[in-house]
Amino acid sequence: MLKTKDILDEKDKRLRLISKEVQFPLTKKDQELIDTMIQYLHDSQINELSEKYDLRPGMGMSAIQLGVAKRYFVVVNELTDPETEDDQKEFETYVLVNPKIISNSMEQIYVTEGEGCLSVNRPVDGIVPRYARVTMEGYDRDGNKIQVRAREELAICFQHELDHLNGILFTDHIDPKNPFKGKDQMRGI
Ligand code: NI
Repeated sequence: MLKTKDILDEKDKRLRLISKEVQFPLTKKDQELIDTMIQYLHDSQINELSEKYDLRPGMGMSAIQLGVAKRYFVVVNELTDPETEDDQKEFETYVLVNPKIISNSMEQIYVTEGEGCLSVNRPVDGIVPRYARVTMEGYDRDGNKIQVRAREELAICFQHELDHLNGILFTDHIDPKNPFKGKDQMRGI
């Protein structure tokens, strides 16, 4: 079982690698890693389990965050309200292999409370401009070509994870001298 301490911290240089395209079929190891990532993200959003196993809540994770420089990430998106009882929660899981953005909105948004990352264990002030809507193309874990459309928080999550595959952390998007630059041109969510 994956523990929070197993996730690479921002100081780890491996997070700066450009991850490599994946060939199909996926190896057994990659399949297992994907299952491990899904399990972590799911459990981390279940209050009882996140407390019991001391999991930091997160909705997305890229392979490089576990030291594997391959182009895939997992997103577990809660469909129900976050206040919902543990046993009533519903989730949608996305596995994207070799993903790319094929279209995006002109409109930009940002997370008002600040973006977070399982690899960044400190509060970071500032806004990260993201497209409000994106369409991504990639492959599922079985090698089938897929297209996924996302908006709002889910769209931000996809863009954040795609950045990881290119060695980029959300903190890179923030100008330390002017962390709220451009705020008036975008919508906070
Ligand atoms: Ni992250």
